[in-house]
Amino acid sequence: MIEGRRVILRSVRNSDIQYFLKWLDDPEIALLLGRYFPTSEFDERSWLIEAPERGDIIFTIIDKATGQPIGNCRFGGIDFKNQRAESGILIGEKDYWGKGYGKEALELLIDYGFTELNLNSIYTLVISSNERSIKTHKQIGFREQGRIRQRIFMKNKFYDMIYFDLLKSEWLQRRKHIKNKTLF
Ligand SMILES: CC(C)(COP(=O)(O)OP(=O)(O)OC[C@H]1O[C@@H](n2cnc3c(N)ncnc32)[C@H](O)[C@@H]1OP(=O)(O)O)[C@@H](O)C(=O)NCCC(=O)NCCS
Repeated sequence: MIEGRRVILRSVRNSDIQYFLKWLDDPEIALLLGRYFPTSEFDERSWLIEAPERGDIIFTIIDKATGQPIGNCRFGGIDFKNQRAESGILIGEKDYWGKGYGKEALELLIDYGFTELNLNSIYTLVISSNERSIKTHKQIGFREQGRIRQRIFMKNKFYDMIYFDLLKSEWLQRRKHIKNKTLF
């Protein structure tokens, strides 16, 4: 369990799956994630069960004030030889958007990745239309390294995927200046 000021990252429980499915069923969220197939309960359970085999670590994000799940975050395809992994985050409860919960959860995840898993590089892919996610990643120190042009076709339009990454050295430097000392 990783505890922050307002959120906790904890392991996924069976009772969280109903929330995960509700969030993925939301058309607005599906667009931000570039998903276009419905996710069945069977798909979601299999994705969670097979996570260790794929080298993924998945957390449920809990609002400390209410104890309720508000999202999830993960490292995908952890490559311990090259010390790199892909990060992913979803604040599924839309009332929580734009209030700093996503930034805090991502900071906790990233810090765990660099200081516990000993990763050297964390990367993520964001759809060019997802301005909130782009802003959050940039605020944390991710840098745009390139664009995969017209990678995603949605609602009759193509969108670029932006490749962001963050190195451990950059994060440790930034971490020193994070004002919210209760986080680390
Ligand atoms: C992306 C996400 C994790 C960001 O978390 P969040 O808690 O909503 O974001 P934060 O409150 O930390 O806000 C980040 C910044 O974006 C800004 N922002 C909020 N809404 C915005 C919008 N529509 N467009 C651009 N910037 C926006 C905020 O003002 C804030 O900047 P500030 O600190 O200068 O005010 C969350 O919104 C989310 O999970 N969205 C749905 C799924 C998703 O997009 N996942 C990421 C896939 S790559």
